[in-house]
This record gives sequence, structure tokens and C-alpha cells, in this order.
Amino acid sequence: MASLLAMVCWLGLFGGLHGLANDFGAGCADGPAKTLLQLEHVVKSVTGRDEECGRLHPDVCDPQANWYCSNNCRFHTHREDCYRPIPDVMAEHPDVDGFCYFNASGYWIVYRGPQQDFGKIVVDSILALRSSSYTGLSAGRLITYRFEGLSVTTHLDDVNYLYDDLYGYALGFLQGQGLEPNWIQNRSLWMELSRQKCAELQATYRFAKEELILADALDFNAVLDMMASCSAQIPHFKHGSSDRELEEVAGWHSPTNCRSVTRRDFAKHHYVKCLLGYQNSAADMAYLNQRACLLEGNRIGHFSECPYVPDVDF
Ligand SMILES: *[C@@H]1O[C@H](CO)[C@@H](O)[C@H](O)[C@H]1NC(C)=O
Ligand SMILES: *[C@@H]1O[C@H](CO)[C@@H](O)[C@H](O)[C@H]1NC(C)=O
Repeated sequence: MASLLAMVCWLGLFGGLHGLANDFGAGCADGPAKTLLQLEHVVKSVTGRDEECGRLHPDVCDPQANWYCSNNCRFHTHREDCYRPIPDVMAEHPDVDGFCYFNASGYWIVYRGPQQDFGKIVVDSILALRSSSYTGLSAGRLITYRFEGLSVTTHLDDVNYLYDDLYGYALGFLQGQGLEPNWIQNRSLWMELSRQKCAELQATYRFAKEELILADALDFNAVLDMMASCSAQIPHFKHGSSDRELEEVAGWHSPTNCRSVTRRDFAKHHYVKCLLGYQNSAADMAYLNQRACLLEGNRIGHFSECPYVPDVDF
């Protein structure tokens, strides 16, 4: 799913969606209590079969990740491939969906089957990412991103908006930026648009193979969230196992002394999904398009402020 640094409690592992951020200590941290030593033992005994989707063994989030459940590569059945360029790995598995192959390597990489309904993914994602701190429409604090020389505002109605609003805007996926929301009803059209966007991103940014390693992308997601805070000059919500190293990579000293996120940073995050299969980049594009729009005055709006309103309460 998107980007979604939205700190969802692990979707696959705990059999349901728990609210995040603030509550994830309560909802997610009480997974099976195994010591690291025990975990290492199980990890070494696993063998994976290529033709199957990847999964975790043991079936828990890696406690050493820089954010809750952000990178489970160490416990993954295809763990070696996590540390190789994605284009090389996928070239060896041409008929496998990358979200299947790397299923559960991070909380935003969860395989949902071969013919996903994008409309359903949009609704599921919005609800899954909504936290107990959701304020309701436009009741959150108004923030201003300074992004690539532009000023963009949004109401921070929930923690995940910090990342997803700017991410959608940066990619040009918001309603009002050219993508008509009803186009998602035509699956082949939407997939084709996604494929085109992916090609455009690579033509623009020319990501080198070495930049396209899944484990790095998984670790960088939390950094992107911190850099989005920097772009908005607001304190970062630090939860879970985010640590000093994370702050270091994000160049974070304070909300006004830190590294802002760039278009290229967001493009790379999306491009990783392109490489893992256009179904996955298309689902990301659908989510970002249907949840928000660009309004007059470079303000990002949501739900009833937008031409298309997904079928969820807000
Ligand atoms: C994805 O991984 C999770 C966690 O290991 C596992 O429970 C689930 O069955 C896997 N999904 C598929 C389609 O293999
Ligand atoms: C879906 O879009 C394709 C173009 O990608 C077009 O050829 C086709 O007619 C469209 N189908 C419907 C049902 O509108």
C-alpha cells in the first residue's frame, strides 16, 4: 500500500487491523514473546520455495527494525533477495508478483492476490491506516509543507496524512492533478496509466540498480516520514522503535534543522512498487488519488471536499 508510513499494526501477522501509532504498543507489541536467540534459531532452519509467496519465519515482526514492522527481511523466506537489486531479483522470477515474492517483508508489502479490486483496496487502506487520533474531516491542525520551492497546505487529520498527502501531491496523483478518479473502474486503463507513470519516473530520475534494494526501501520509509515532518516544520511523531540512526539518516536535529523530503525521494518509494509489479503501483496510485485532492490555493483536501468521495465515514 501506499507509502503508508502509517504505522499500521502488522496486517498479516496479528490477524487483523489494529489502530496504530498511539495504540500500537497495546495492539501489536504483545505478539509471541520469543527471545532473539530463539528467533535466530528458527530463522536458520527455514527453507523457502521460489514458486510460493514469501512469508516470515518465525511469523513475527523483526524487533530490530527501525520502525514497528518496517523491515522483516531477516525473517523472510527470500531474505537474501531483500539485499539485492529488485530489478535483478524480479528478472529471475518474471511471472511472480513482487508483493507475493516479498510478502510481509514490511507492513506495506502484503500480497492480496492476483486480481485486486482497486476500489476495495482504497477503502480497506483508508480504514486500516486510520488511527484512534483521527480528528474527522479538516479538524486537524493546518500545516504548510515547503516542498521543492512550493507551499502546500493540508489539515493533519490523522498521523498518516503527514506522509500520504505530500506523497500523493509529489507524484501528481491527487484528484485535480490530472488523474480522473473514475478511471480506476477500468482496470486495464488504470494499470496502463500506472505503467506509464513508472516509466516516466525512471526517465526523470534514472535510479541506479544499487539504489533499488528492498531492504533499503523498507528502512527508508520511516526516514521519509521524518523528512515529511521536516518539510512541514513540525515535531515528528516518534513511536515504536524509531531510533537515533533513523534521526541521523533523516538529518533530524529539530523541526527547523533537518532534511526535507524531495520529489526524488518520494518517486523512488513509488518506483519500488512499480518494480514489484504494476498491480502494486496501480493500487498505490488508486489509494493516493481517491483519498485526497488538490484545491484552490494549493491546499490538499479530503473526502467531501473532493470530486470523488470513497465509501467510508469521515
Ligand atoms: C504473507 O506472509 C504472512 C506472514 O508470514 C503469512 O501469514 C501469509 O500467509 C503470507 N501470504 C501469502 C499469500 O503467502
Ligand atoms: C478501458 O480502457 C481501455 C484503454 O486502456 C479501452 O480500450 C477500453 O475500451 C476501456 N474499457 C471500458 C469498458 O471502458
